[in-house]
Amino acid sequence: MSELAAHRSLESLPGPRGWPLLGNFPQIDFSQFHTRLERWADEYGPFYQISIGPSRFLVTYDVNAAQTLLRERPESFSRRERLEQVFAELGFNGVFSADGDNWRRQRKIVITALNSAHLHSFYGAMRATTERLERRWRAAADTGAVVDLTADLMRYTVDITTQLAFGIDFNTLETDGPVIQQHLDKVFPGLNRRLASPIPYWRLIRLAQDRELDHAVESVQAQIKDIIAACRQRLAAQPDLRAAPGNFLEAMIAAQEAEQLPFSDADIIANVFTLLLAGEDTTANTLAWAMKLFIDHPYLLARVRAEVDELLGSHTIPPDPVTAGQQPLIEAFANETMRLKPVAPIIIFEAKAATVLQDVALPAGTGIVLLSRQMATRPEHFAQPQAFSMDRWLARGEAERGAHNPRAFVPFGGGPRFCPGRNLALLEIKVVLAMFCRNFEIALANPAQSVDEAFAFTMGPENLQVRFQRRA
Ligand code: HEM
Repeated sequence: MSELAAHRSLESLPGPRGWPLLGNFPQIDFSQFHTRLERWADEYGPFYQISIGPSRFLVTYDVNAAQTLLRERPESFSRRERLEQVFAELGFNGVFSADGDNWRRQRKIVITALNSAHLHSFYGAMRATTERLERRWRAAADTGAVVDLTADLMRYTVDITTQLAFGIDFNTLETDGPVIQQHLDKVFPGLNRRLASPIPYWRLIRLAQDRELDHAVESVQAQIKDIIAACRQRLAAQPDLRAAPGNFLEAMIAAQEAEQLPFSDADIIANVFTLLLAGEDTTANTLAWAMKLFIDHPYLLARVRAEVDELLGSHTIPPDPVTAGQQPLIEAFANETMRLKPVAPIIIFEAKAATVLQDVALPAGTGIVLLSRQMATRPEHFAQPQAFSMDRWLARGEAERGAHNPRAFVPFGGGPRFCPGRNLALLEIKVVLAMFCRNFEIALANPAQSVDEAFAFTMGPENLQVRFQRRA
């Protein structure tokens, strides 16, 4: 038997029966894409296939396949070509969607801009921004107002990203009027729809939803152009910044002006857009899920609170990054939040050439969906996988905690394209959760209403309306 014949073909894998031409498209509600795929995984196992229109996808939660997919980039696997096209059409083909050398050049600057040294020197601004969030929640506690928790957290994450990466303070936390988030909010659902569509219909006809997306993108771009203009003025006024840029945008513009790297103005706009998008929903949704899980598990909140009270003493917010980093219970709570409520429950890839993944032969161009939450909730990888157990991250050794496989837990992806915002996100999470624990009680505004998962490129909570109280 030839080596190739020993492999299974994609067509031979099990999978849900689809419709002629449309494949499984009519069976999928894309705002629940991840749960649909997870339910099929329960039925069809670790390797199955679906089709959306003319495209056939491999869907997997196999841990060895996951490691190969994450590691062998950019050589063997990329993000989907459709993703790059859709991002490019909207003008934000930056580091998230780019491939090959184009990606390498952009990635280098992003990594430097988000490294630990920058995060430490930025901490003063992060603390001041967290104080604004604390004031906002104190005001809500005093009036008994119902708070849209995720929306408040998105104000926080946008304020952090714009200060850290672009050197500009939008202060949307203390702004009453229109804010950039109202346009950013439209972008992810619009992207999700286009990525899921079996054909790129919007190139022929603009539906109401496409016009809304165009308008949102134009509004954000207008603001991005102002941010870039302000940065160019800063560089002109302080030429020394060119040699030692203080943030991501200064670094990109300085590299362009010195002609060190062939960045176009469009590349710069695209990356500002990318960081705004990547920094907003991901961290805000993770924080929102963590706070929802505190509501569900008051005994865990009490334990975390004891740690925070002891660590912070008279402070209401961790005073410096070292203190913020010393919170093992918050870190464990955040890990468990991301295991059960990951904002990226699926990660999508494309095979750049014909290849074999585990024992499945894939033609060039095959789309591959990694079910990252499914992988992290398998009993062979994590004991009692559906239980929310902060302690599994604190226990030492298998005897104490049972199965525990860190290779099956990839909330920030992995390999050469792992999330460069990981350290920033973890710092934001620790600082905001510590501030919350130290200062507030929280309850659902309407306990009878369920808080559901909604997928729109990232996965966040729907209907998370809460009330705050100041702690006695
Ligand atoms: C809890 C918060 C966050 C989560 C869970 C998260 C998760 C992810 C995941 C799963 C990926 C794909 C990784 C892969 O393909 O291996 C990713 C990529 C990325 N993330 Fe994050 N992210 C978070 C916060 C952030 C923040 C705060 C920023 C920056 C401000 C950021 C910037 C990026 C960028 C630029 C990429 C693309 C990297 C590349 O393709 O080279 N992320 N993130």
